[in-house]
Amino acid sequence: MRRKLAAGNWKMNGTGAALQELSELAIAHPKPTSDILICPPATLIHRATQVVADTAIQIGGQDCHTDPKGAHTGDISAEMLKDAGARYVIVGHSERRQDHNEQNETVRAKARIAMDNGLTTIVCLGESLTEREAANTLDIIGGQLSGSVPDAATGHDLVIAYEPIWAIGTGHVPSLSQIGEVHDFIRARLERRFGPGVGRSVRIVYGGSVNPGNAGDIFDVSNVDGALVGGASLKSADFSAIITALEAAS
Ligand code: 13P
Repeated sequence: MRRKLAAGNWKMNGTGAALQELSELAIAHPKPTSDILICPPATLIHRATQVVADTAIQIGGQDCHTDPKGAHTGDISAEMLKDAGARYVIVGHSERRQDHNEQNETVRAKARIAMDNGLTTIVCLGESLTEREAANTLDIIGGQLSGSVPDAATGHDLVIAYEPIWAIGTGHVPSLSQIGEVHDFIRARLERRFGPGVGRSVRIVYGGSVNPGNAGDIFDVSNVDGALVGGASLKSADFSAIITALEAAS
């Protein structure tokens, strides 16, 4: 019932030469049974949409501003992303929360304006290692979820990404039961807040050191509807193997 999502976040990586990876990905997955998304740096979004035109690959942004327009040098609005051809946007990634001191309230405003502009919005949540070791993971995730996700979200315009900060780019992955515990918790909270219909339709993806070797096991965990992949999305062969594992999962 929930269509799976394989999302790649290229972060601040890639110039024009990287668009070749998108062409290869499109050739490898002509008729995917999951949604395939790549979020390249903003400089590549428009060209990326041209490269994947008439293919099943979708393009997204990595962030947007809370305001529709105005005096915000260097920032990008949700409308601009949509205009450039993006269908999705990531908001509240832990790197933005850390590097730019973004709080839940800001993330929620970004998500709201992204949804209002017709972008499917991936809201990222995740605990630090200190928070996990203090057994505060579910409190942190619950607080981020209620603070960062706007009201009136739907399964069409909202995706939740659970990305433990300590798992990002480290090669350390939570145990499968730890992933399952958090995803089940997020599902229960979504159902409580939005009702069972919407709550069950929102996709919850896992992110943090997903690679072709561990993807299959992660995708078998309950309430894991896909992945948000950093490093392993930069090479089409690696990301393609992750997509294949996702489509093979039950
Ligand atoms: P890595 O897959 O490189 O750990 O990054 C995960 C991530 O932050 C995706 O948004």
